[in-house]
Amino acid sequence: MKEPRPRVDTAQALTRFHYLARAVALACGAWIAGTPRLEDKALLARLAWEQSLAADAFRERVFELRYPVRALEEWSDASFDTLIDSPDFLADLPLALAELQFRYEQFLADTDELDDGPTERIVRQAIADLERHAFATGVAPVAKAWTSGRVRFELPQFPPRDDRYARHSFYWPDTIVPGYPYGEGMALRVRAAVSHLNEVWAVDTAGAIMHALAPELGWEWIRDAGRWTYDEARHMLMGKRRLDAWGLPPDLTPLGGYIYEACAGEDPLYRLGMLGYFETKNIGRKKERAQAFHELGDTASEVDMQFDWADETLHAEYGRRWLKELLARRGEDPDGWPQVLERCEQLVAARLAEATDADREAIVATAERLLAHAEATADRAEV
Ligand SMILES: [Fe+2]
Ligand SMILES: [Fe+2]
Repeated sequence: MKEPRPRVDTAQALTRFHYLARAVALACGAWIAGTPRLEDKALLARLAWEQSLAADAFRERVFELRYPVRALEEWSDASFDTLIDSPDFLADLPLALAELQFRYEQFLADTDELDDGPTERIVRQAIADLERHAFATGVAPVAKAWTSGRVRFELPQFPPRDDRYARHSFYWPDTIVPGYPYGEGMALRVRAAVSHLNEVWAVDTAGAIMHALAPELGWEWIRDAGRWTYDEARHMLMGKRRLDAWGLPPDLTPLGGYIYEACAGEDPLYRLGMLGYFETKNIGRKKERAQAFHELGDTASEVDMQFDWADETLHAEYGRRWLKELLARRGEDPDGWPQVLERCEQLVAARLAEATDADREAIVATAERLLAHAEATADRAEV
């Protein structure tokens, strides 16, 4: 019979796993804004979330095994840094994921269920998550973005946009054309789907601050930000799925990101403010919209909006908690958050003020073309 692995060795291995999964989660977040294709962003967002969950489970298990010590972040065990510090580890995402999976499988082979069933369950889940992506078609383009995007962790201030779509920083006329209606009926449905698609700014922002604020805010932030990033990617894809179902061509569909762009060169504090504020300030509207979709018989849009609403209630809490926490950790007044949001409003207003008449004409033309297409095909499109 094989020698069982002692408790302390298990805790050490899980500590290494925590730091590896954490490094992958943060890298995925950091790479999102520089990766243009929406599906690749969504894959990175999902990986960031899954890796943060795995890392969290490893961490909690270490605390159980080392009870009563809860000090994983303070331990300095050089052995878990070796791979993270190697320049090759994060150079190629599929390889990094394969390396993780290999290590988990090796570990599992030496795990005794009666001694350590709780760890076995955690590691099996981590492997299952990785296996799902092993054949994901999206992985290859992501790898390209990783290796060719030598920016690595440099955040693009004006992210490259998915070039299948019509590029408009201000992605619907009502953002820059006073009095332009939000729309009713099919126009309302298209507008809401375009809004969801354009949450691409929120995906970019969440991934960027997940990485940028990690050193200041620590593990619990990374865990919340992983979920936040994944949720925003789901919202973005909700819009894509609706537009695709209606057969609306991407090249007629505006895609922008003026809220992300408004933060160019600013402290990540303001990106956190933007995400916490602009994504949740219309939270009350979401229930109204879900009801409007119900009346229009558009169940898919209705259900999407209901789940979006539930996510936003969680995000509002993240925004409140982490904005205050960040101010406090910087030695500033945690109750000073309203000033941060005020500054966010100013930054967005300044970005909107940069819109030119040519921008206004272009977005009106794109929107009208898209709506005309939607009206013309609405009868035969699958809703
Ligand atoms: Fe969202
Ligand atoms: Fe949100």
